[in-house]
Amino acid sequence: MIIAVANQKGGVGKSTTVVNLAACLGMKKKKVLCVDMDAQGNTTSGFGVRKKSLSVTTYEVLLGLRRIQEAIIKTEFENVSLVPASSALAAADIELIEVDNMQKRMKMQLLTIQQEYDYILLDCPPSLSLIPINALCACDTVLVPMTCEYFAMEGLSQLIDSIRLVKQRYNPTIDIEGILFTMFDSRLNLTGQVVSEVKKHFPKKLFRTVIPRNVRISEAPSFGKPVVYYDKSSRGAEAYMAFTEELLKRHSAAKK
Ligand SMILES: Nc1ncnc2c1ncn2[C@@H]1O[C@H](COP(=O)(O)OP(=O)(O)OP(=O)(O)O)[C@@H](O)[C@H]1O
Ligand SMILES: [Mg+2]
Repeated sequence: MIIAVANQKGGVGKSTTVVNLAACLGMKKKKVLCVDMDAQGNTTSGFGVRKKSLSVTTYEVLLGLRRIQEAIIKTEFENVSLVPASSALAAADIELIEVDNMQKRMKMQLLTIQQEYDYILLDCPPSLSLIPINALCACDTVLVPMTCEYFAMEGLSQLIDSIRLVKQRYNPTIDIEGILFTMFDSRLNLTGQVVSEVKKHFPKKLFRTVIPRNVRISEAPSFGKPVVYYDKSSRGAEAYMAFTEELLKRHSAAKK
């Protein structure tokens, strides 16, 4: 199953969710591959992988200069592998315009290794450019992390429009995995308003688990570790584990 973690809004917890969902799925004995599709490389450094040491990255994979098999590295975390990204990826959005099937480059690569993993997670950059379009064309579902901010709904409807477009043209079976609230703070009045608004529009898509604002989650990347390895008993780690269990439960219910 391929899940794109996307929201064109910046800083909503996409990379944090990829790193921690992957680590939790790995602990639950699922084989996971993360593909860092953001030139910022936050997922890459979140797993403690040094960007200077990389030879093959998402850049070469997207442009078809190397096969994805050559880019995959094992992380030090159970059952989690990674296709890393470096700043070179910033050029890909422009260079992709000149290649055939520019929207389907990632899909073509993933087809060759998909069978080897239970879950493939695609960390998208904060835009709706060709790179995230490649992720939307390649995925089965889209997981949308979002914060309870005033502009969140506007961003969400833009993202839904893009998903609809991709569905019509390139990926007819794409679906929304769900919406996950991150950096959640129930003390704020705005939080309740945003939650009820999202619930009204997407009653079936909201995950029951929310990820609280938690300092351990934000500290973990500087140690190159997912929070479930950095501080297993923190509220943040427990929330990501509960979210992972909710997602797995939904998937096993859908199979029946
Ligand atoms: N639940 C949380 N509690 C506290 N801090 C968090 C939480 N989730 C994420 N953060 C912090 O918020 C910042 C943004 O998170 P993250 O990088 O995951 O967002 P993003 O959507 O991937 O950003 P971008 O759009 O730039 O790729 C990071 O510094 C991260 O450590
Ligand atoms: Mg990110």
